[in-house]
Formats: sequence, C-alpha cells, structure tokens
Amino acid sequence: YHGEPDTDFILPANKAWAKQIRDQWKKNAGDVPTVRPVVVDGKELIGERKKVEVKDKSQLPLDVVCGVYVQATAEDLHLAVEVAHQDPDGWRALTPDQRHETLSRVANVVRARRGDLIGVAAAELGKVFTETDVEVSEAIDFLEYYTHAVRSFERPTLTCKGKGVGVVVPPWNFPIAIPLGGIAASLAAGNTVIIKPASIAVLSAHALCQCFWDAGISKNVLQMVPCAGSVAGEHLISNEKVDFVILTGGEETAYAMLETRPDLYLSAETGGKDATIVTALADRDQAIKNVVHSAFSNSGQKCSATSLLVLEEEVYQDPHFRKGLIDAAKSLSVGSVWDFKNRLSTVANPVGGALKKAIETLEEGEEWALEPSFVEGNPYFLSPCIKWGVRPGAFTHMNELFGPVLSVMRAKDLKEAIEIVNMTGYGLTSGIESLDAREVAYWREHIGAGNLYINRGTTGAIVQRQPFGGMGKSAVGAGRKAGIHNYVTQFMEFDEVAFPV
Ligand code: ALA
Repeated sequence: YHGEPDTDFILPANKAWAKQIRDQWKKNAGDVPTVRPVVVDGKELIGERKKVEVKDKSQLPLDVVCGVYVQATAEDLHLAVEVAHQDPDGWRALTPDQRHETLSRVANVVRARRGDLIGVAAAELGKVFTETDVEVSEAIDFLEYYTHAVRSFERPTLTCKGKGVGVVVPPWNFPIAIPLGGIAASLAAGNTVIIKPASIAVLSAHALCQCFWDAGISKNVLQMVPCAGSVAGEHLISNEKVDFVILTGGEETAYAMLETRPDLYLSAETGGKDATIVTALADRDQAIKNVVHSAFSNSGQKCSATSLLVLEEEVYQDPHFRKGLIDAAKSLSVGSVWDFKNRLSTVANPVGGALKKAIETLEEGEEWALEPSFVEGNPYFLSPCIKWGVRPGAFTHMNELFGPVLSVMRAKDLKEAIEIVNMTGYGLTSGIESLDAREVAYWREHIGAGNLYINRGTTGAIVQRQPFGGMGKSAVGAGRKAGIHNYVTQFMEFDEVAFPV
C-alpha cells in the first residue's frame, strides 16, 4: 500500500488541466441541470419525489442552478434497508480477495475522475481545487488501505464477515473523502451500505457513488438516499436491520441516534475546537506558517482546523509575531473558486449559527487584530479574521465556529496553555510549536486530543500514518480512528475456528 500523490498545480500541464475543469463547468452553467435520482433496490428512482435545486456556489449571486436531486421518501428508506439486509447480489459472501479486486477498480475510477470530483465540489460548495484535490488522494488511500487491511487478516482458522447493513451519514465540508471513507470501510469489511448524503453536498456524493457503480458495485450493495436528517432518523436509523452507523456531524445528532436506537453500533466523529500552542521556544516563523494554513484553509471549515492559538506570554507580547501572523492571514485572497489566485472561497453558513455570533461580537478583553470583512460585500466570501485577547470561557474559546476565525489567547506558561486547551471538552486535533523536547514530552502527556501534531499544522491527516479520531466531545460511540485497520475491523465479526487435525 502506498499513499496517492496530490496534484502539483504549479506544473504548466496541471494548470492547463485545472483551467479545462473550470471552463467545462462554466460552459455547462446555463444547461438544463441533470437530476440525481434516489438509488434504491438496484434502481434509479425519480417519479413524483420532491426535487431540490442546488445553487452554484462558484457563481455568486446564487442564481445559477448547477444540479437537481430528488429526496427519498419514507418508503424508499424502508426498502433500502430491506434490500441491504437481503443482499441479493451476495456481496457479503465474497472473499476479501474478491472484494479487494472490485474496490481496487473503484480506486482506479476515482483516480481517473479526479477532475470531475474537483469540479463538482467547486460548483456545489465553492471548495477550492487544491483542497478537494487532497480529498481525492485521501479517498483513494481509504479504498486501497482498508481493503488491503482486510486481506491481511485472512488465515485458514479465522472466519471474518461483515456486521450486515451499514449507514453512512457524512458531513458537507469534506464532500469526497469522508463519505467515500465510510463507504469503503463498510464494503471492505463485507457489509452492504446505504449513504444519506449531507443535504448541501448531494451532487458530490452522487458523483463519488457513481465511481463505485461504474466499477461494478451494484446499486443493491451501495444505495443512496438523500433526505432530511429528521426523515433519516425516523425511517432509517430507527430500523433494527441497520447494524451500524458511521456519522461525522454534531454531538446532538449522535446522541439523538443513540436515543432512537440504544443498541446501535455507532462510530461518530463529532467535531472539534482545536488549538495550537506556541511556546517561547518555538520557531516563530514556522509556527505562523503552520497556524495560518490550519486556521484558514477551506475557510476554517474543518473539524481539525486550528481555531484557538494559545501563546506563551513572551510570544503573545512579541510585536513581530503578531504582525507576521496578521500579514500572513491578510495575504490569503478570498473570492470565487474559479479564480485560482483565491485561497479561500465560499463559507457555507455566514449568516447564522455560531460563526455569525463570533464575527459580530467582542467580549471583555477582546479586540480584532484582523477584522472580519466580506469581499465585495458578498456574505459568502468571509476574509480571515483574528480575534486577539480571548479569555478562558469566552464564546469563541468554547464553541466550534466552522469559519475563518482564529481566537488568540495568552498563557503564562505551557501548563496553563494546556489547561486552556483542555477546558473546551473537545479532543480531536491539537498542535504544539516548540523546539524543546522536554516541552513536547510534557505536552504529549497532558493534552487531551486524538491527533497530536508537533511543529506541523493540525489538518490533513494521512491515511495509515496519522489515524484520525478524537476523544471527549469529539467522539461518540465506538470512537475508533479512521485510516487504520481497527477502523475496518469494527464493522466485522470474527470467529477463530479450530484447525481440523
Ligand atoms: N481528516 C481531516 C483532517 O485531518 C479532517 O484534516
């Protein structure tokens, strides 16, 4: 198993390729949009189901429709579970080698469609090319690594089979890698699977499911049911024939699922309020580079994003550090995803929720080191902003924002910095910038997070090398890390049999 390389967009041929993707989408913008069906029971279903128009986020104002999808009905959901349970195509009966063969073919299709997947995420979500590009690499890694892992368990005395029916409920911020990872793990483990895509990322979900279908995974083995979360809760998650759920989303959703089905095997990653600590013994320039990328790439819309920067007193007081951080953040240009100079593009929810409150309020002791502003007055193009002097317990200290807002806090020493970070109750990623091995060792011992990064940004975990998952409020249910063999085994049942003599 080898990790898939990302695209080097500096190369002229790759730049030309990126332009082709963009031009194709722009050209298609006026066309009658394709309708993405519900996919259940081996069939593509449209009929009288409710249609939803998807607005093109790359062409603000939002008046261009770039796709239409139909919503699954309660009957569709019940039928999907029944079909997945029956497994008419016998996916569960295949050997790990046979499943590997098919899933490797899916990896090849995803590889060949890298540009299509980048294009659809740009149009549907305003996600910049370089950010989706790394997702496609990760998606290929998930496919290859999980199926490779399952094959490695095989031995004559061991029977291993899937749990049965898996449901994948992914988020919208990683519209390719996260849904694909859940599907890949479920299938590699020998389960049939139903995906309920995030409602603002259905086109991307359909495009990646199409890779599976075109590579030979049947529409009985992988079914797709776009619908509202409440409908899925009532008619999908509640169904006792669903054997496990993979959720990446809110804590409330995870607990609501467990309330509906206390017996459910749930593997849920439920967000983060991630911090980077910079001590007086850090390489400060390197720290700025890592923090700016971790805080603002994908406009901070990552559960792994650094949204707290906790500075040891000397760094907090250092005017060069402050200026360097502000200048680096200001250098990121914001605007349409089709203009490749832009490093940040659309935020999904600028006018509601925690992000709105964070950019509209300053609490005691806080000031804007870099004020929030909307490029060309467009509420979807929020520039990076830096709140300075955030105090323990303040709103932006304790709440996940999902936007390009970095809250800077001060700590008298490393011990206090760690206390500030652990106070959030989340525990997904955490970073330290320090060149002192004793400080790093102390931090490792006391920090509460699943993914610890030393002198490196807090985003972009690599499959197998950095298994990804959290603790505390960041994980509900089984809480296994993704991108490592334990993630697949949790969806399997094992039985060691005696060797016949
Ligand atoms: N796995 C994603 C990252 O590491 C969320 O950034």
